[in-house]
Amino acid sequence: MKDINNHKGLNSIWTDSLARNLQPDSNALVDHLRIVHQEHTGFTEVCASSCRDENGLNSYEWLAELVPNNERLRVLDLACGSGPLLKILFDNNKNLKLKGIDMCPEELELAKARLVDSGASLFESKAQNLSVIDDNSIDIVLCHWALTLMDPIAPVLNEIKRVLTSKGRFAALVDGPMNAAPGYKEVHDLIYSYVQEEIPNYGEIDLGDPRVRGSESLNNLVRKAFPKSNIVIETNVVSMKGPVTQVAEITAGFFYASFILKPEKKKLMLASLTKLLAIFKKSADAEKQGQFSMPISRVLVMLDSK
Ligand SMILES: C[S@@+](CC[C@H](N)C(=O)[O-])C[C@H]1O[C@@H](n2cnc3c(N)ncnc32)[C@H](O)[C@@H]1O
Repeated sequence: MKDINNHKGLNSIWTDSLARNLQPDSNALVDHLRIVHQEHTGFTEVCASSCRDENGLNSYEWLAELVPNNERLRVLDLACGSGPLLKILFDNNKNLKLKGIDMCPEELELAKARLVDSGASLFESKAQNLSVIDDNSIDIVLCHWALTLMDPIAPVLNEIKRVLTSKGRFAALVDGPMNAAPGYKEVHDLIYSYVQEEIPNYGEIDLGDPRVRGSESLNNLVRKAFPKSNIVIETNVVSMKGPVTQVAEITAGFFYASFILKPEKKKLMLASLTKLLAIFKKSADAEKQGQFSMPISRVLVMLDSK
């Protein structure tokens, strides 16, 4: 796994478009995400595994809770990345038939290595085209921290519907809503302010379809794709505590925006973030403790319940 903060700053067609005040297209988005994941393979699981809710669950475990662990279900992890969710599912229930899809080959290599004994099938593909998966062949589709990156989103939801059985379930973990965790908006605004010094409209234009970021607009999108389903959206907060410099580095990794900063600017941003996340701001202690809390939402779509 690569160091999540070992980078040179990032230029892509996507950032170039933003810098020229143009709306980037979906190819530019794919290109940008591939570069981030090529240069920082495995960063997601470092960040997401570090934060836990008040019951001690990280966000993978909170999502995995929705999969019964006593049945022989067919489960697809959409945008599985380096495979941490698939590994948790396999450890919970060896009878699951697991499949994973991601468009980044470097992430899939990590997933393959960790899932070698699991029987999981892994495919390199975009979520907008799941032709490697048959119609009505999956009981549960999961998607952890990736739906907000996808644009166009409608074909993704249509493909999920196509591969699910008539009694299937779709569950996604997304970040937000912004105000559900104390201090989260300040962290977001601080990181974005550094990025906006380079690209002023980063944030106004962001990765993915903006409708996936709001609970209501997400609900509407999902309702349109799955009109006869029951949809439940729950919110939770995951947090981490530890030496503040370490907490700041991991926190920065939660924000794709931070990857575009050049080393000097990234250092300045991390110094400000360290101050913001310190628990006792006035302590002179060299090993100051820090804390970060992140809002997460779990969307569950049950196809058979109407
Ligand atoms: C934040 S990471 C999450 C990875 C994994 N689900 C996890 O939580 O550890 C986002 C992942 O989504 C993948 N991804 C983004 N857009 C995609 C798309 N349209 N089709 C397939 N994979 C996509 C990226 O390659 C990346 O591995």
